Amino acid sequence: MPKITEIEDLKRIYRRRVPKMFFDYCESGSWTEQTFRENSSDFDDIYLRQRVAIDMTGRSLATQMIGQDVSMPLALAPVGMTGMQHADGEIHAARAAGKAGVPYTLSTMSICSIEDVAENTDKPFWLQVYTLKDDEFMQRLFDRAKAAKCSAAVITVDLQMLGQRHKDIKNGLSAPPKLTPASVANMATKVPWGLEMLQTKRRFFGNIVGHAKGVDDPSNLAAWTANAFDQALDWDRIRQFRKMWDGPLIIKGIMDPRDALEACNVGADAIVVSNHGGRQLDGALSSIRALGPILDAVGNRIEVHIDSGIRSGQDVLKAVAMGAKGAWIGRAYIYGLGAMGEQGVSEALRVMRTELDTSMGLCGRTDINSVDRDILMIPKGFSGDWEE
Ligand SMILES: Cc1cc2nc3c(=O)[nH]c(=O)nc-3n(C[C@H](O)[C@H](O)[C@H](O)COP(=O)(O)O)c2cc1C
Repeated sequence: MPKITEIEDLKRIYRRRVPKMFFDYCESGSWTEQTFRENSSDFDDIYLRQRVAIDMTGRSLATQMIGQDVSMPLALAPVGMTGMQHADGEIHAARAAGKAGVPYTLSTMSICSIEDVAENTDKPFWLQVYTLKDDEFMQRLFDRAKAAKCSAAVITVDLQMLGQRHKDIKNGLSAPPKLTPASVANMATKVPWGLEMLQTKRRFFGNIVGHAKGVDDPSNLAAWTANAFDQALDWDRIRQFRKMWDGPLIIKGIMDPRDALEACNVGADAIVVSNHGGRQLDGALSSIRALGPILDAVGNRIEVHIDSGIRSGQDVLKAVAMGAKGAWIGRAYIYGLGAMGEQGVSEALRVMRTELDTSMGLCGRTDINSVDRDILMIPKGFSGDWEE
């Protein structure tokens, strides 16, 4: 196995191994990609305060997210079509997360179905649900999550409409991939990926095909998707979803303190400050800049997590020190998955854990639960000093 010392190593291997269509799908933001870029680069504006001659032995990263024990404050974010990045990708990622003691979130738009992941893993996972118009489908999704013993539901609220990613349109993104001269020529150079894909039956959207009304085979999926997402979504509708699911609930995609307060009123257990990895509103603030004002607004009323742009343990440390109870990663584990399946996700988690542990120690802290803003140097105006 090649020596992996940083997340970028996994990304390089991933890029070589996976068809361009799926690499581009992952590695894009919407429109100009400003928010996608700034999600990561804004972490560089925050500095860590080095301390010395403090006993750094006996460090612990163990903590809790929504009352569940985790080995470090990190979760795998829901990523659609993970099973196209690597055959049976969702199962591989969930297994690696389980072994590392961190939560895995399965996307509604996954290739492996809820039941499939439950049967092939031995730890409970979280299910992400999109807010769709079809009540029956939504209730069934929650019921299936319950039957599969999912330990939380994550409602993503930032996708009433789809932000445009130019490359997906140009590449004709689909699952399974459409066979065009360009895609066939590219896939011919990705032999190991293709051979593994041929050996699995899981090549369609496993939670949709055969479950949603009128989607009995993959060919009528596109029409269903175009119509299924609910542009009329409001907080009353989210309250209805709260009633459909009586387990722990997380609301993902909050970027404004007012929306964070609405989420508190719905009775969610946590929110994720997230701009969907820069894939929705281009020109939105990075998540790390949005985090502070949201934490200030909600106080102790709700647990606050964050995602978007996190690529290192140092980033996780900065987010936790600001006050996030957990940091979710999307692309950072997909690079590992695409590079080398379950082992690659394990490598991504190992890299991030080492970086988090060492950086925390060098800041003079030994317990992740004691980390606070005192270890950070945040520039004045970092979270904005905007015109009213
Ligand atoms: C390829 C890709 C697919 C995604 N699909 C979903 C999805 O199905 N549901 C969802 O709630 N978020 C989805 N997201 C957003 C992630 O859950 C997460 O918010 C984002 O990846 C975090 O940013 P990061 O990739 O920079 O870590 C997706 C992100 C990527 C990169």
